[in-house]
Amino acid sequence: MEEYQLVPRIKPEELQKRLDDLAVRINRDYEGTSLIIIGVLKGAFIFLADMVRRLSIPVEVDFVRLASYGESSETSGKVKITKDIELSIKDRNVLIVEDIVDTGLTIAWYLDHLRQYHPESIKVCALIDKFERRQVEVPIDYAGIRLEKGFLVGYGLDFSEKHRNLPGIYEVQFQK
Ligand code: IMP
Repeated sequence: MEEYQLVPRIKPEELQKRLDDLAVRINRDYEGTSLIIIGVLKGAFIFLADMVRRLSIPVEVDFVRLASYGESSETSGKVKITKDIELSIKDRNVLIVEDIVDTGLTIAWYLDHLRQYHPESIKVCALIDKFERRQVEVPIDYAGIRLEKGFLVGYGLDFSEKHRNLPGIYEVQFQK
């Protein structure tokens, strides 16, 4: 295993402030209606848990797990669902809650996939909008933090399944 360091990027207090702002907007935009929130596993589990506790509109929560496949370790755009949602989204307002949008390929595929079930609306909420490697334009309706690049862990995000439990966000830096 290559040696690496974790460099602090976003403090827990800063994350909580960003969530406060996002929740104000979501509560306002969906006032008078209800929402199905679809959390994308595993990375979004902490973000989603902190977010739903700030929402005053009626919400139902479900989860999907998406895996990208192909030869390289990078996102290929070919996505499969390894755990599907169980709620019906027909005629409902849907908010997808994602940890990071990087190339955008995963979320673009999933948005397209969900449209066949005829929801009333679909929007995307991402904790981190990491835009340097974006390959497809995806509408991120609610973005917590915009960053250019860097491989991030903590607050649900992992590196080989590790570091999801860190309360803040850190950048993985490999030793030269
Ligand atoms: P995309 O299809 O390239 O947008 O990939 C999105 C997925 O890749 C995210 O949902 C994460 O699971 C993973 N990912 C992308 N960047 C990072 C990162 O910096 N840390 C941890 N996971 C990441």
